[in-house]
Order: sequence, then C-alpha cells, then structure tokens
Amino acid sequence: MAAKPDTALKNISVSKFTNQLFTFHKKEPVKTTHQIIFENSNNMADILSGSVDLVVTSPPYPMIEMWDEMFSEQSPEISRALKDKNGPLAFELMHKILDATWSDLWRVVKKGGIVCVNIGDATRTLDGNFALYPNHSRIMSQMLKTGFAALPGILWRKQTNAPNKFMGSGMLPPGAYVTLEHEFILVFRKGGRREFRKDDEKMNRRKSAFFWEERNAWFSDIWTDLRGTVQNLPDSKIRKRSAAFPFDVPYRLIQMFSVKGDTVSDPFLGTGTTLFAAMAACRNFVGYELEQEFRGLIFSGADHIVSYTNERIAKRIENHLEFVKERTREKGEFKHLNRHYHFPVVTQQEKKLLLNQLVSVEKIDENKMEATYSN
Ligand SMILES: C[S@@+](CC[C@H](N)C(=O)[O-])C[C@H]1O[C@@H](n2cnc3c(N)ncnc32)[C@H](O)[C@@H]1O
Repeated sequence: MAAKPDTALKNISVSKFTNQLFTFHKKEPVKTTHQIIFENSNNMADILSGSVDLVVTSPPYPMIEMWDEMFSEQSPEISRALKDKNGPLAFELMHKILDATWSDLWRVVKKGGIVCVNIGDATRTLDGNFALYPNHSRIMSQMLKTGFAALPGILWRKQTNAPNKFMGSGMLPPGAYVTLEHEFILVFRKGGRREFRKDDEKMNRRKSAFFWEERNAWFSDIWTDLRGTVQNLPDSKIRKRSAAFPFDVPYRLIQMFSVKGDTVSDPFLGTGTTLFAAMAACRNFVGYELEQEFRGLIFSGADHIVSYTNERIAKRIENHLEFVKERTREKGEFKHLNRHYHFPVVTQQEKKLLLNQLVSVEKIDENKMEATYSN
C-alpha cells in the first residue's frame, strides 16, 4: 500500500533537529519544517513517541454553544444530553472526547517537555438553570491523572466593555453573576526539568534567550496586554468562527518554554496561529486539525508571515532599545553587551540572544512548508 503523504512526518525525527542545532554555529541558512495532519488528534499516529518539545493549544471549549455540533458529531450521546438539557452529563461527555487527545499527548511529548493549554470556562442556562462549567479544572485534573505535573499557570485577562457583559438580576441580589473576563493558560510538564548537556545544546539555548524586560512581563501570572490577531494574516470571519487566539499567545509561550530548532505541536490547530508563531520563532511544527477547510487559509497565511515575522523582530528590538534608553536614564550604564547586536542588556544570559530573521517560506507538499532563516 502506498504511504499516506502525512506519514512523511515520521522523517521529522529528533536526529534531524539535532543536525539543525549544529547549523546554528555555522554561517549556513537555518531551516525548519511545518506540517499539518488533517485528522482527529485523539490518535496522533503520525507523530513519533517522545518527539515533541512543546505543545501550545486551545481545544474547542466544552459547553460553549459554538462547539456543540462538533462535539455532537463525535458522540451522539452528547447531542442527546444537550436535548435532555442535562448540562453536567454533556459537560463530562465533551471532556471525555478531549481526554483522548490529552492521553496521546503524553505519548508524543518528550521527557521534560511542556504542554500549555489555553482554556476558558463556560456559563450556560439549560432548562432555566444558569451554571458555570469549569473547563479549566476538568482539564487540569485529567492532565494530572494522565501523569503530567502542573506548573504555575497564567490568567489571561480579556476585559470587555460590552454594555451587556453583566449577567443575571442586575442590581437586585442575589441572582446577579460575576462576568467572566478571563481565560486560563494551564502549564504542565512531563517529568522533571529538561537538561542541556552538550556544548551545542547550551549554545543554542543561549541564542534562544529573551530580554530581561520581556521575562518580567511574560512570566507574570496575569496577562492583560494581549489582544488582536495577526494583522497581515487572513483574519476576519473564518478566524472568528474558529475562535483563533492572538498571535502573541503562542509566540510568547514558544519563546518561554522551548528553544530554537525544537518541535512545537498543536493538536487543535484551527487557523494555524501556533504554526505561524513557531515559524516566527524558528521552531519546527507539527499539528492536527479536523477541518480540511482550514488548509487554504493556513497556506495563504504563508504569503504574509515573512514580513510579519521580521516586523515583529524589529519591534522587539525597538522596544528593547527604548527600554535601554529609559533604564540608562534611571540607573546609569549597563554591565553587559549583546554579542550580535552590540546593544546593552541587563544580564549575562542575554549576551548571545539572537532573533533569526525569516528569509522565505516554501510549500513542499500539500500539507507541509519549509522556512529558511538568516543566521
Ligand atoms: C479553539 S479552536 C483552535 C483555534 C486555534 N488556536 C487558532 O488560533 O486558530 C479548536 C480547533 O480544534 C479543531 N478540533 C476539534 N476537535 C478536534 C480533534 N479531535 N482533532 C483535531 N482537531 C480538532 C476544531 O476544528 C477547531 O479548529
């Protein structure tokens, strides 16, 4: 039997990435590959066990109406529970569908690898009964049962000024409900801390550093500054319908929890935001998505990602230079200089920091792209 094109992914092996690490030293172009598998992620058979360094994902949210149909198609019991207005049963059955993906993540993630799950809770009135469906705590307990260890997570505050944001009985107690204006980014690790033993691994980790002032903002447990989507990537209706997250959510998490040349995965890829963030951050990518209709959208995004990435890099450097100016005024000279850019940095750890510019993106088959970077 002829091999499915997707099985080519098996060639994206750990050794390939190890080879890529070496190219970071030389003046050769650095390359990454980006693959999408349009199948159900409850069985990610095309990804080798222990081959993924980082997962950044946002599943369909159980008990949010826009996902009822998708869950019901995967289990008729869900459709019955919703018809019977049995909220707790529908909630549990929807999570059982997601559990299969969490369980296969345990297989594909490397020891020391990290999983970040963006999830919001749902509120819903069924048969006149208003209730909160705590998606974040259901996923947290399932991930712990699967074997992952929880790490400190992030509360992503998404303030809204909508006039109808308050629910319930208005100014009359006690039937008014607190407005949900936040989502969670749950963070897990498989096993203990990842080690970087070899010299080339250590060097690559140093080149993957972020700025001190970025650390201070990104490693805060409440994010309030993230909004908007990638301006140049095809956005609009289809992105809204898919509940895409802003580019900065995966872009930040990828810088925080992986190094260049790593493999990032998203088992609920949607419009491809995590794929593009991995590309912009010089990481390889492999993801799953059920809906074939996203293929066109994702591949058309590739036309814009080169300029978008390089603008983002220029902006990060511009922000850093602004920070340098201000801090020099307040605290005087910096102690360290970055080796590549020759600008001041606060710590030793930022001396080798290097942001590789994206040079080109090439479609190499129906579901796969290759990105080339400056070194
Ligand atoms: C919340 S959306 C993800 C949005 C994505 N983060 C983005 O920025 O576009 C969830 C996606 O998961 C997909 N999906 C749902 N169940 C799936 C499954 N079992 N396997 C693969 N994809 C699935 C849906 O089609 C949807 O596109």
